[in-house]
Amino acid sequence: MAAAPPETDTDVKIAVEGVTKIFETKKKTTVALQDINLQIRSGEVVSLIGRSGCGKTTLLRVMAGLVAPTSGNVVINGRRLWNGASVEKSVIEQLGVVFQEANLFPWFDVIDNIALPLKLRGVDTAQRRARAQELAELVGLGGFGRSYPRELSGGMRQRVAIARALSCDPELLLMDEPFGALDALTREKMNIELQRIAGATGATVVFVTHDISEAVFLGDRVVQFTPRPGRIEEITDVGFERPRDVDVQTTGEFGAIVRHLRHQLEGEL
Ligand SMILES: Nc1ncnc2c1ncn2[C@@H]1O[C@H](COP(=O)(O)OP(=O)(O)OP(=O)(O)O)[C@@H](O)[C@H]1O
Ligand SMILES: [Mg+2]
Repeated sequence: MAAAPPETDTDVKIAVEGVTKIFETKKKTTVALQDINLQIRSGEVVSLIGRSGCGKTTLLRVMAGLVAPTSGNVVINGRRLWNGASVEKSVIEQLGVVFQEANLFPWFDVIDNIALPLKLRGVDTAQRRARAQELAELVGLGGFGRSYPRELSGGMRQRVAIARALSCDPELLLMDEPFGALDALTREKMNIELQRIAGATGATVVFVTHDISEAVFLGDRVVQFTPRPGRIEEITDVGFERPRDVDVQTTGEFGAIVRHLRHQLEGEL
C-alpha cells in the first residue's frame, strides 16, 4: 500500500520539507513534529489520521502559515512559505482554513461572517452578499443568513466556518476535524459536498479527522501519524475513483483499508 511520489515537481501543490516543530515551555519540551516530509499533488485530497496529540493540528498550522517550524519549510506552488519565523503572505493567498473551533465573529451575522474574506479582498457588498448566500445554502443554512453565531448550534457554526473558507474559491483547503461536531447524517452530507466542491474547483485538500471511514471515504491517500515525536508512520493509497458514492463504504475493499488502518492505530497503544 505504499504510495507513489508525484511524477514531476510541477504536479506538487504543497510540499512539507523536513518540518520539525519543537514547543519549549518552562515545564517541558515537546517534539510535536519530527522531520515530516510530504508532497501533495494538485487536486489531491489527503486525509491525516493519528492519535490525539500526535501533531496533526500543529502540521496544519505550519502549512497555513500560523506556526513557524523549528526547522524545515513548506513549499506552495514552488515557493517557500517560511522565511525563518516570518511568513511570505503572497504564498498563501489562495488558502482556505477550517479549524476544530469555528472562530466566527460574534458581532457579524452568518452572511457577513461568510463574506469576510471577500470583504478583505475588496469585493463589493452586493457581490459578496450574493456569494455568501449561495454558500450558506450550500451548507444548509440558507434560512439563517441574518442569524448571529450565538443563535446557532455548534454544528451550524462549523458549517458557517466551512462556507467562509470556501468563499474565495481556495486552491488549497486545510481542514482540521471540520465535521467533528456534526451529527452523523449532516456529516455524511458534508462529506459528499466537500467531495463535490473539491471535484468542481480542483482544490487540493488536506483533511484531519479521527474518523477512519471518513478519512478513507474522502482521501486519495491517508497519512497516518505516530505520536511523540510526531512522525509519519504510513501512507496508504485509496484507489477508488472520485466522485465516490456513499455505498463504496459497504464494499469489501473499503472495509479492508479501514481495518488495516485501525490495526495500525491500535498497534500504537
Ligand atoms: N502552543 C503549544 N505549546 C506547547 N505545546 C504545544 C502547543 N501546541 C501543541 N503542543 C503540543 O504538541 C503536541 C501535538 O499537538 P497537536 O495539537 O498538534 O495534536 P493533534 O494531533 O492535533 O491532537 P488532537 O487529535 O487531539 O487534535 C501535543 O503534545 C501538544 O501538547
Ligand atoms: Mg488537533
